Amino acid sequence: MDFIDLKTQYRRIKPSVDARIARVLEHGQYILGPEVSELERTLAEYVGAKHCIAASSGTDTLLIALMALDIGPGDEVITAPFTFFATGEMIAIAGAKPVFVDIDPRTYNLDPAKIEAAITSRTKAIMPVSLYGQCADFEAINAIACRHNLPVIEDGAQSFGATHHGKRSCGLSLIGSTSFFPSKPLGGYGDGGALFTNDDALAKLMREIRVHGQDRRYHHPRLGLNGRLDTLQAAVLLAKMEVFEDEVAARIRIGDRYTQLLNEAFAGSPGRVRTPYIENFNTCVYAQYTIEVDNREVFESKLKALGVPTAVHYPLALHMQPVFAHLGLPEGSFPFSEAAARRVISLPMHPYLTEEQQVAVVQAVREASG
Ligand SMILES: Cc1ncc(COP(=O)(O)O)c(C=O)c1O
Repeated sequence: MDFIDLKTQYRRIKPSVDARIARVLEHGQYILGPEVSELERTLAEYVGAKHCIAASSGTDTLLIALMALDIGPGDEVITAPFTFFATGEMIAIAGAKPVFVDIDPRTYNLDPAKIEAAITSRTKAIMPVSLYGQCADFEAINAIACRHNLPVIEDGAQSFGATHHGKRSCGLSLIGSTSFFPSKPLGGYGDGGALFTNDDALAKLMREIRVHGQDRRYHHPRLGLNGRLDTLQAAVLLAKMEVFEDEVAARIRIGDRYTQLLNEAFAGSPGRVRTPYIENFNTCVYAQYTIEVDNREVFESKLKALGVPTAVHYPLALHMQPVFAHLGLPEGSFPFSEAAARRVISLPMHPYLTEEQQVAVVQAVREASG
């Protein structure tokens, strides 16, 4: 069993992927070719945003967003400590200070009730993460940001395709950022990412920063990056968009089925395995199907012996990472993030997981937790 099966998907979309790649090889416009603009139009429409800027990765998109908002040394950006490293890393790379606010332990996302206490005169943005495929509470976060006149950047690397109060992830705040890393809900065959906004001036800035800060060829009013998406990746992503709606529906069905099967399997011993909690105003695309268990290391090795691959997203909260030691945030600073980092484990999850495979995983989870 694969943790994420990309081969079955490829067999399904092979004619379109192969034809689109062949077309790129024929026209030869490998950098910002026509597929990149076509993808940007397709994704902007899908998200419901005015602008989409395709870029080199979900890491670079975070940095481009921060640079476009002119965030740098002396500034603070509020984010969650329980996330993939890139979220905090890019705030620090921009020269700013990541200011961590603990998560809501039910959703693993930034707890809006704790944000206001962390806002100072140096706060320049709030960057919530939509972890595991479920959006953070943007309605509540945007209201706080609005009161304090702060921009909100969604790190939607894991939530592309999810909805929040009926609106799509990446279209929920001033800037939305996502990743096309191959294992993501919309993944390419290499690195990639995209930014979304309704703001014309910000869109123009982010487009310029994506190409070395140039406003026309070889003229650079500002610094930027080599942050472009390859035309070949855009071609692959266009093929994947043809089946994406169907895959999102499958993800929701499979995630919900896991929860049902696990809750049935552990009905007699509640609390042994904690299944995901999805807010009733959200849909979750389950970039990861993540549960919580006691004695994770033992559980992990038992599942491995039973032939079920797992992964831990993430074993160390950001304030506990050696590189952030200078922030002076000792263990105990963010108890919910720290508890999650000790207890979470992700099960095999992708849109082509079969009922038989899910039943086998749940059976193995039962055995491993015994
Ligand atoms: C929450 C989060 N932010 C940022 C990133 C960075 O994306 P990428 O790997 O495309 O640079 C990822 C993905 O790995 C992620 O999960």
